Amino acid sequence: MDIKIFHEITNEEFLEVIESVGFKTYSNDQVTKALKNTMYMVKVEADGKLAGIGRVVGDYSIVCCLSDVCVKPEFQKKGIGLVIINELKKMIEDGVKEGEKMQIELTPTAGNEGFYQKAGFKYKPEKITGMYLWIKK
Ligand SMILES: CC(C)(COP(=O)(O)OP(=O)(O)OC[C@H]1O[C@@H](n2cnc3c(N)ncnc32)[C@H](O)[C@@H]1OP(=O)(O)O)[C@@H](O)C(=O)NCCC(=O)NCCS
Repeated sequence: MDIKIFHEITNEEFLEVIESVGFKTYSNDQVTKALKNTMYMVKVEADGKLAGIGRVVGDYSIVCCLSDVCVKPEFQKKGIGLVIINELKKMIEDGVKEGEKMQIELTPTAGNEGFYQKAGFKYKPEKITGMYLWIKK
């Protein structure tokens, strides 16, 4: 497989990938705003086809969060998820200055903890359990 990494995602690509894995969908306006305010984003094409995306949101200093890491079902289990995470980690690392530290947080969907552990993330449910809340209007 010919894997290519890009650092731009269009609204259409974003929606195509998140909808392919059954994530909630959003209006075009919301996606435009979300991508504009994203710290780092990655899109992967496999053999010229859109395969997956991932992005990082945060304060550029102390904390950031992985979001929307998704690989289209037909491209899963081929190493593309790891390509996305590794590229995002590299971009984050490049932004951390000598002597400083920054935490990368994420809220894995159930069953995907092992994937993130393979990508180097710590999973210690006895110490830290992720939580979340949707605000809907
Ligand atoms: C989670 C997801 C991004 C993984 O992407 P992927 O391309 O299938 O993962 P990879 O092929 O890069 O897997 C890398 C490694 O993690 C392992 N892995 C993948 N999914 C795993 C899982 N659910 N549990 C444990 N290990 C897993 C693979 O076996 C592989 O291990 P190996 O290197 O020893 O062979 C993908 O399954 C996905 O998009 N799921 C739906 C959306 C989602 O839930 N995203 C996470 C949001 S928090």
